[in-house]
Amino acid sequence: MSKLLITGRKRLSGEAAVQGAKNSALPVLAAAALVGGESVIFNCPDLSDTDTSLNILRYLGCGARREGGAVVIKNDGVARYDIPDGLTRKTRGSIVFLGALLAKLGRAKISLPGGCDIGNRPIDLHIKALRRMGAVIRERRGMLDCRAPHGLTGTHIALDFPSVGATEDIMLAAATADGTTTLTNAAREPEIADLAEYLNRCGARVFGAGESEIVIEGVKRLSAAEHSIIPDRIAAATLLACAAVTGSQITLKGVIHSHLGAIVPVLEDAGCTFTRHENELTISAPQRLRSMKTVRTMPYPGFPTDAQAPVLAAAAVADGTTVFIENIFENRYRHASQLVRMGADIRTEGKLAVVEGVPSLYGARVEATDLRAAAALVAAGLCAEGQTAVSGVEYLERGYESLELTLSALGADIKRI
Ligand code: UD1
Repeated sequence: MSKLLITGRKRLSGEAAVQGAKNSALPVLAAAALVGGESVIFNCPDLSDTDTSLNILRYLGCGARREGGAVVIKNDGVARYDIPDGLTRKTRGSIVFLGALLAKLGRAKISLPGGCDIGNRPIDLHIKALRRMGAVIRERRGMLDCRAPHGLTGTHIALDFPSVGATEDIMLAAATADGTTTLTNAAREPEIADLAEYLNRCGARVFGAGESEIVIEGVKRLSAAEHSIIPDRIAAATLLACAAVTGSQITLKGVIHSHLGAIVPVLEDAGCTFTRHENELTISAPQRLRSMKTVRTMPYPGFPTDAQAPVLAAAAVADGTTVFIENIFENRYRHASQLVRMGADIRTEGKLAVVEGVPSLYGARVEATDLRAAAALVAAGLCAEGQTAVSGVEYLERGYESLELTLSALGADIKRI
């Protein structure tokens, strides 16, 4: 098991390119199971989660290879409808293969997906929607056995909550369904619009993705296309948090400013200033951050739950008290107890975290328990006095393309042992 060793208090400077979005790449790779021919997906991040999706595609009978920053998926027919437990347990993103396989083969057998342990992550909305489209779904001993012997049929689906994964699963299932699907209260995350763009390049007719009503006119078949994954707004937010805690000035290259619309104002509130150029964003952080107005995680365009952990690490060293309200996932403050080991003053209760900023954190041995918690501990290590050893680094690899190399190129003292 590797660890990250960070010697804190080094200023960051320079430029960093933002990786492709993990949460776009996963549904786009699942969509490739539905699409005949050879798709080229550019800017596909090289992560353990995307590797799992590529392994699922290979298991299903597709060719899947990396070529530089792109992946090439060759789909001459999907040979299997089952996905083994060992693959689905690795990432929750694998659930979107359900919609793709049902649409492609009229059958899917998938074990309930894994992923980071950040509370109860049910898939009832996915199942309810697919049933409305005509699928017969049985759950037995952690396996979902799904059949649509007569194909899927377009219908009206109103989500009880704008779930990202359910919206994607429904889009995949509906893309080649018989008739039109109208989805209301859909998730509006940029990754949804990115998936729609890939599907539409392949011949799908998806309208309104990125808004709360999405209309999907089923087409007979989809044919492969090229697509470039959008930049990862959470990876960008993590680098901004790292700059903020170290009083640094850095420039991110390859950002879409509108995707950071909820994150930048929170850091501005903390005293950071931003300069925008076309696809570049420069952050200049003050010597000491100020506390922020209450940070509430919400579905997009609200403040993303995935950015809560690294921004909370910044609040831990700000001057004053910041309150966080986590509205999306239970159990998403597991980084708090580790930050407390580093000298932070944080109290959590249910959805609430009250962070009393301290002048300094101190290096300690800490353990990451999920992907974004790992990012928070790295940010904390960068500003702590002395040395921090972060274990649980495998979580980081699920979502960040060699974060430690990016940070050390910016001047951080961080190495993997
Ligand atoms: C996706 C992202 C994840 C992000 C999350 C919220 C991917 C691969 N992951 O996860 O990084 O943190 O969106 O922005 O894109 N829910 C139900 N029933 C369901 C589905 C969801 O109750 O059938 C609940 C969940 O328990 C959670 C909330 O809805 O409380 C949001 O979940 P959802 O939007 O589905 O997140 P994911 O797609 O799992």
